[in-house]
Amino acid sequence: MNRPYNFSAGPAAIPEEVLHQAASEMLDWHGSGLGVMEMSHRGKEFIAIYEQAESDLRQLLAVPPEFKILFMQGGGIAENAIVPLNLSRGATVDFVVTGSWSQKSHKEARKYAADAHLAASGEASGFTTLPAPAGWQLSRGASYVHICSNETIHGVEFHELPDLKALGSDAPLVIDFSSHVASRPVDWSRVGLAFGGAQKNIGPAGLTIVIVREDLLGHALPICPSAFDYKTVADHQSMYNTPPTWGIYMAGLTFQWLKKQREGEHTGVAAMEQRNIAKARLLYDFIDASPFYVNKVAHNCRSRMNIPFFLADESRNDAFLAGAKARGLLQLKGHKSVGGMRASIYNAMPLAGVQALVDYMRDFERGAA
Ligand SMILES: Cc1ncc(COP(=O)(O)O)c(C=O)c1O
Repeated sequence: MNRPYNFSAGPAAIPEEVLHQAASEMLDWHGSGLGVMEMSHRGKEFIAIYEQAESDLRQLLAVPPEFKILFMQGGGIAENAIVPLNLSRGATVDFVVTGSWSQKSHKEARKYAADAHLAASGEASGFTTLPAPAGWQLSRGASYVHICSNETIHGVEFHELPDLKALGSDAPLVIDFSSHVASRPVDWSRVGLAFGGAQKNIGPAGLTIVIVREDLLGHALPICPSAFDYKTVADHQSMYNTPPTWGIYMAGLTFQWLKKQREGEHTGVAAMEQRNIAKARLLYDFIDASPFYVNKVAHNCRSRMNIPFFLADESRNDAFLAGAKARGLLQLKGHKSVGGMRASIYNAMPLAGVQALVDYMRDFERGAA
């Protein structure tokens, strides 16, 4: 069966091979007589699944040993509170607001930090550009600086993480990498903490990945719930409370799939990066060459994962979406706050899927679809 291409921003497409494997193991994982959802998280079967997933993620993202990998619950939105509860020390924190997600994070942090200072914002441009780091108004002695390294709704992405030291700040950088985790390598020398929900590039909703430098643990505010205290979670290998076992298992299958991916001499995440560059280029080049479609994001900060675009004649939006669906191109409607269309082309979207979208867009423009 040929499945349709799914352009959802999340929960999003999962590699078909992973879905098949999960289906085949649903009733009986490796002869254990149990499905993964039915296993104790403390049993040797699940511990093996957990340890493999953790070590594969560490290898795929080249996470240095001084960072802990935590598998939590709550998603990115819960992390908007959990990060300041753990890292703010009740003092000043800096935010660079580049779209809806960092805006939400900024608002939530105000509840916990003495001052959630707005160091820079892309709002004046309608979040179509990223404010240049050289102009950021960073606070002296801030507990951390928060950015969203890929804004899922506005389609802007940091192609290089800021070097805070070079900007005169000693604060750790916190990145919300929910919507581009595992799509490209991470420069850990510039990061103190990264968090992301799994439901875009890694697996089903319900699992949140937090990767945090060890020296940042142990400073949670007294009001921080124990289940959300990173040190407690780390000390219990993410099993202080019952972890999202199914999500961890599915993420583990996705990591195995990622490890097998090759593009030329590249493997794993580096291979995905090459593929993601090619996919994004195909779609952006087509949009830029057409008078019928528009993407408003500045070229140097266009997301490789989430590509919002508009029809020059917006009265044809419904017809565009209906025609796309008829061709097996699903979930292209833009986020309600931005309108238009959005193609999310995460790791599980093959180049052929983006080609099918471009072919459809060309036909629609010509009145042939
Ligand atoms: C960049 C980013 N951060 C945070 C979130 C919120 O994630 P959740 O709904 O899992 O809490 C999303 C969800 O789309 C996102 O794209």
